[in-house]
Amino acid sequence: MGAAGMKAITFVTQKGGSGKSTLCISLAVAAQEAGHTVCILEMDRQATISDWLDHRTADGPEVAQIDATHLDLVMERLAESSYDYVFIDTPGIDSSGTLSAIRAADLCIIPCRPTPADLRAFKPTLAAVYRLEKKFAFVLNQTPPRSYRIRDAADGLAVLGILPDVNIVSRTDHQDAIGVGQGVTEYNPKGQAAGEVRRLWSWIERRMQAARPRKASGQDAGKEAGKHAKAA
Ligand SMILES: Nc1ncnc2c1ncn2[C@@H]1O[C@H](COP(=O)(O)OP(=O)(O)OP(=O)(O)O)[C@@H](O)[C@H]1O
Ligand SMILES: [Mg+2]
Repeated sequence: MGAAGMKAITFVTQKGGSGKSTLCISLAVAAQEAGHTVCILEMDRQATISDWLDHRTADGPEVAQIDATHLDLVMERLAESSYDYVFIDTPGIDSSGTLSAIRAADLCIIPCRPTPADLRAFKPTLAAVYRLEKKFAFVLNQTPPRSYRIRDAADGLAVLGILPDVNIVSRTDHQDAIGVGQGVTEYNPKGQAAGEVRRLWSWIERRMQAARPRKASGQDAGKEAGKHAKAA
């Protein structure tokens, strides 16, 4: 892929602690394991991802801390690079930077814990995403293994937009992996957290492919044609 095929995924919601940085890291590693080249742009001065990188011994993904005012320029440069994906981690407070990160995205991931506070807090994010006409997906994060509360939250979210077929359950693997500079799929490849993240990545990848411009290869053109036939 690379160059013109590069896709940007922005992790965004103004609710602090909902899992933007955690998911950004583990999904970046999962994407890399699936054969893609990934660059992470960290727009949060909290520097969760740079700290993670300090503990990391494995290769990739590339991480750059950037100021919001430089995002457009950095994206222009990246468009000429060979990365398949750029992941953008944003701070847990609304700012003009958040808006430019949404603008730069091909897909916005909105992590959300199944709590009333989180469910309320994503509304301004969603409004911006709609205004900028961006594709988006919610990811229910830190959920209990099973509960009626999740089902309630999931139904609410499904009505509003897009929800993957997998929730990210609250598991210590997420905290432990980040602590040692890994993604969950590296830390405990056979664990349930790893399984959930891999499933989430493949859902995201499918969703990104659906967004790909029509000019692509024969196979894609065929798929597109099928879609148009159906729509007609
Ligand atoms: N699925 C999970 N299971 C267990 N712990 C989790 C999970 N997701 C996130 N956490 C933990 O929750 C805390 C907050 O997560 P994280 O830092 O990713 O949130 P954030 O949205 O980036 O926050 P901020 O808005 O402050 O940047 C961290 O301590 C992280 O380890
Ligand atoms: Mg963060």
